[in-house]
Amino acid sequence: MVHHTFKVNGARVDVEAPDDLQVLWVLRDLLGVHGPKYGCAVNVCKACTSHLNGEVFNPCFKAVKELKPDDEITTIEGLPATVGKDLHPMQEAWLEYDVAQCGYCQPGQIMAAVAKVKELRAKGRRTVTDADIDEIRNICRCGTYPRIRAAIKAGAARM
Ligand code: FES
Ligand code: FES
Repeated sequence: MVHHTFKVNGARVDVEAPDDLQVLWVLRDLLGVHGPKYGCAVNVCKACTSHLNGEVFNPCFKAVKELKPDDEITTIEGLPATVGKDLHPMQEAWLEYDVAQCGYCQPGQIMAAVAKVKELRAKGRRTVTDADIDEIRNICRCGTYPRIRAAIKAGAARM
């Protein structure tokens, strides 16, 4: 076991874990942060999508030894605090459009959507097009894609 320290949702964490343990297991099994879901563990389904230093990442595909002490992971649990509210605007849009079916993929979908909007804003873009949304590869086995699409556009308008 090796000592690792980094930040999760605004708080410093200290964990003992093997260097090669994937961050998804550190979050879920050692820290009890269950928003990032386990679907494939090979960076395909995107159910685990979270943010690392504000950018999209998939914790199933990064070993804990790759994290530095100042690195900050944000999961769906910490998303509202990034805007100082009870819910992030993207989450409000998700509720308004009643997006979720089984719900399993939805934390990752929301985190991917927020990252996509921020990426576009950094390029000076205010609107989100269908082509932009096509770049999000998160899989929804329930097929909620039409509602996801509508919610992303609505949420982006409020961000
Ligand atoms: S569980 Fe991480 S991409 Fe599938
Ligand atoms: S809502 Fe069921 S997998 Fe997306």
